[in-house]
Amino acid sequence: MITHRSYAVEPWTVRETELSLDVLAQSESVFALSNGHVGWRGNLDEGEPHGLPGSYLNGVYEVHPLPYAEAGYGYPESGQTVINITNGKVLRLLVDDEPFDLRYGRLVSHERVLDLRGGVMERTCEWISPAGTRIRVRSTRMVSLSQRSIGAIAYEVEPVDCSVRVVIQSELVANEQLPQANGDPRAAMALQAPLEPEEDFASGNRLRLVHRTRRSGLRVAVAADHVVTGPERTTTGSESHPDLARLTVASVLEPGQKLRVEKLVAHGWSGTRSRPAMSDQVDAALAAAAHGGWTALAEEQRAYLEDFWARADVEVDGDEEIQQAVRFALFHVLQAGARAEERAIPAKGLTGSGYDGHAFWDTEMFVLPLLTYTSPNAVAEALRWRQNTLPAARERAAQLGLHGAAFPWRTIEGEEGSAYWPAGTAAFHVNADIAHAVVRYVAATGDTDFERDTGMELLVETARLWRSLGHHDHRGTFHIDGVTGPDEYSAIADDNTYTNLMARANLRAAADVVERHPKEAERLGADDEESAAWRDAAESMNIPYNAELRVHEQSAGFTRYQRWDFTSTRADQYPLMLHFPYFDLYRKQVIKQADLVLAMYTCGSEFDEEHIARNFAYYEPLTVRDSSLSAAVQAVIAAQAGFLRLAYDYASEAALMDLEDLEHNTRDGLHIASLAGTWMALVVGFGGTRRARDTLEFAPRLPERFSRLAFTMLFRDRRLRVEFTQETATYTLLSGPSLTVRHHGEAVPLQPGTPVTRPVPQPRHLPAPDQPLHRRPGAR
Ligand code: BGC
Repeated sequence: MITHRSYAVEPWTVRETELSLDVLAQSESVFALSNGHVGWRGNLDEGEPHGLPGSYLNGVYEVHPLPYAEAGYGYPESGQTVINITNGKVLRLLVDDEPFDLRYGRLVSHERVLDLRGGVMERTCEWISPAGTRIRVRSTRMVSLSQRSIGAIAYEVEPVDCSVRVVIQSELVANEQLPQANGDPRAAMALQAPLEPEEDFASGNRLRLVHRTRRSGLRVAVAADHVVTGPERTTTGSESHPDLARLTVASVLEPGQKLRVEKLVAHGWSGTRSRPAMSDQVDAALAAAAHGGWTALAEEQRAYLEDFWARADVEVDGDEEIQQAVRFALFHVLQAGARAEERAIPAKGLTGSGYDGHAFWDTEMFVLPLLTYTSPNAVAEALRWRQNTLPAARERAAQLGLHGAAFPWRTIEGEEGSAYWPAGTAAFHVNADIAHAVVRYVAATGDTDFERDTGMELLVETARLWRSLGHHDHRGTFHIDGVTGPDEYSAIADDNTYTNLMARANLRAAADVVERHPKEAERLGADDEESAAWRDAAESMNIPYNAELRVHEQSAGFTRYQRWDFTSTRADQYPLMLHFPYFDLYRKQVIKQADLVLAMYTCGSEFDEEHIARNFAYYEPLTVRDSSLSAAVQAVIAAQAGFLRLAYDYASEAALMDLEDLEHNTRDGLHIASLAGTWMALVVGFGGTRRARDTLEFAPRLPERFSRLAFTMLFRDRRLRVEFTQETATYTLLSGPSLTVRHHGEAVPLQPGTPVTRPVPQPRHLPAPDQPLHRRPGAR
């Protein structure tokens, strides 16, 4: 485990008390602000030095050819990559004759604080220029959660001990130069100068740039307005060029005087709207933001978050780091999904360009569980995005000779963006994951309108895919051959148990929904005959099992493979995919990330307690966690199986993934699924929270370090608070109609406002199975 901590441990903030340029890119991800529509990396106000400059608009990408050494039928021909749009964050500062640049002069102090309740990033620093002039700079930055297109910065400069001539240049910059991408194939491909200028404008304190992406043809407009407050003789002037618009503010400040610039930035994009329409759109958004100004924006931001924390907070006593980490995680997951509104939630959110800005199954299986119980509207929006991309998914299915819809493994717009079949495109399980998210959302909210208008189409089209992808053998058993499950170190496998169980649930859910809404089903061409075929496939689904070992097989024949030689694999050879050929990983028992173990969580009713423990013990020594999606899932099942210490270590790994940069790639953006996994590890793992038909079940089992774990969640128009100590569980219905929950199997009727307490049975603390050599999670 990393011993040096970059950030102070505090319950509601992430505080960086000094600036280390060597981890600048990492901190830019940690301090990224976003609302799911606009994303600003935590770049320094003055633009330089930077690790990776980044301003993103959800859905704005450029296309590029996908090169293949040997092309094949059905390979996607072009890829989509998120681009760095016009940067509205830049505020350069000139102090007497010298640029305020932290690489020069002397930095007396530098602090950045991400305020998880205020939803702002505050920066304060004191700097002595190379010529000896001492100044203080203070800035507060936000990306508004209430006004979707708006980012804002309040920037203040003051001299410390002598009069200073200062110039602030507030800019909009398009086509910023980007550092070269590193050699890791997961890192985003940097696209140089993707924006073609269409309009530039500057007048008074207002600036605007409109550009269009060269190949994808998307129009991007960014505009800024300013309020300048300073001494009497402060002057301003503005100018614009094709890739730059600038407001220049000049003043002379005496000690005790300040120059303050409040900058409001509006963002918009469209694939269809005209240039004048886009200009008007961002101008209007600016007018709306300017109406209440900085103060109103800051108040709205705090109110939005107050509301969020009241329904989503997780409290941990006994472990301050995990307390901070889980709130950091909740904050960033909210930022990623809050206002995505019928757009994807990418694997990195809008915090960096890693994975080319693509969305994966991460959304449905990691991010949406948290949002389902804390911000269900965002879930409906995310699934509506999938529905909107159905035309592309249907086309893809047809291209592959399949029925229904084949959703992409990775995408921005809906088209398949995975250039690698075995460890990408063949991961058909994404379709069942989407179906699973639909069922989870409807069950947790009771939103039948959504089920009828959106859920049903997703369920039906994915069921059709499974029915055509699989086949009945001569005995009638249904198989789904040649697919890749969650474990990307086993590709093109037959009857992957996770996939089969999830497909089974998908087929059943589709048949159920068709029965519930026959009229709408007719419109989709689904009839009794078709749903009978789905049920038939579901009921005869093959679930591979090794009777000798008495464990479920990850896929047919998996337990027969040779085991990976873990003892000869060095610590520095992880992640394995960067050091060993895929063909060898594929034919050995070595697992990149929880697969069968994930099935035991998502399809828990298919496994008895005995198999949960035995399967976990079998797969644990084979699982290397080369994906950040693994630890949280292992935490959940380890907790259930009674390996509480191990569960705690996995929960910590998920929680500290980015705050401690455990995978050394936080610079490319945050691991949103792992952050969401923190919630999963605590609420599902230690809280033992499961959905059971019309209610929720809890089976709390706290790790030794926790003296208390409390959380709030939404369930069917109710707000429920649960609080666990090592000895007791207290359930309180904060609002909504009465509800009977289950506590370790016992029915607990709840009336609004009346807490009910039950004793907690002593949890098992079993000695845990081993992990592969060098892959034991760090102990804290
Ligand atoms: C994992 C996938 C995941 C992707 C994006 C990969 O390393 O194996 O399961 O979807 O990263 O997070």
